[in-house]
Amino acid sequence: MRVIIVKDTKQLGKVSAGLIAAEMKKKPAFVLGLATGTSPIPLYQELIRLNKSKALDFSTTITFNLDEYVGLAPTHDQSYRYFMNQQLFDYVNINKKNTHVPDGMAKDVEASCEKYEDMMDDVGGVDCQVLGIGSNGHIGFNEPGTSLASRTHMTGLTESTINDNARFFNRRQDVPTKAITMGIGTILDADRVVLVANGPRKADCVARAIEGPITATVPASALQLHPRVTFVVTADAATKLTLNWERA
Ligand code: F6R
Repeated sequence: MRVIIVKDTKQLGKVSAGLIAAEMKKKPAFVLGLATGTSPIPLYQELIRLNKSKALDFSTTITFNLDEYVGLAPTHDQSYRYFMNQQLFDYVNINKKNTHVPDGMAKDVEASCEKYEDMMDDVGGVDCQVLGIGSNGHIGFNEPGTSLASRTHMTGLTESTINDNARFFNRRQDVPTKAITMGIGTILDADRVVLVANGPRKADCVARAIEGPITATVPASALQLHPRVTFVVTADAATKLTLNWERA
């Protein structure tokens, strides 16, 4: 387990994008797992910069997003498909046909979750998964109590996550209460994982995920079982870590 403490979000972007770019260069048709939310935005900005300067090519990259709200169409400005277009896909030379986000409008949700797993299998699995972390320790929308072996599934969001996400919607009652998410087992199957976290609001969950016991009540703690996980954490989110971790 590698933990890199960085100064600020700019350095978080540089360090995490550097790790991912190095992996992407090793393999054509690289399969990149992606997250939404505010944490990976500096990472995506740096990936865009690398792509624009021709230092990183996305033409053969395949992506799978972690999650999507149930009931939001891809054109809804709070859907995760829309977010990915706005924050990354529209600005790099990726073929959008190679980008995948769970279908929040699926009629048969169970079948569409199974299909999502099959699509990842068909391309040989995720090479590198990007993650953020919720203030309650969730990864993807795997809320506390989710099985550590879970696969892609539909889930209800906790009050804490609905409150966290309410800032993006006009009214709290507009925040969807259900989502489709890769499971924790799905995430652990990725060859490599890079989790980014910033801000004092994340200090507790970061410490519990990295230095606490492995427990389903802190879904991110399952990452301690992953052989190639790197946490890139800003100093203000690392204040509750006690071990002598690497500083960038
Ligand atoms: C988003 C996702 C979530 C977020 C988490 C942190 O695709 O899977 O687990 O990573 O809620 O969100 P931010 O970065 O907005 O604090």
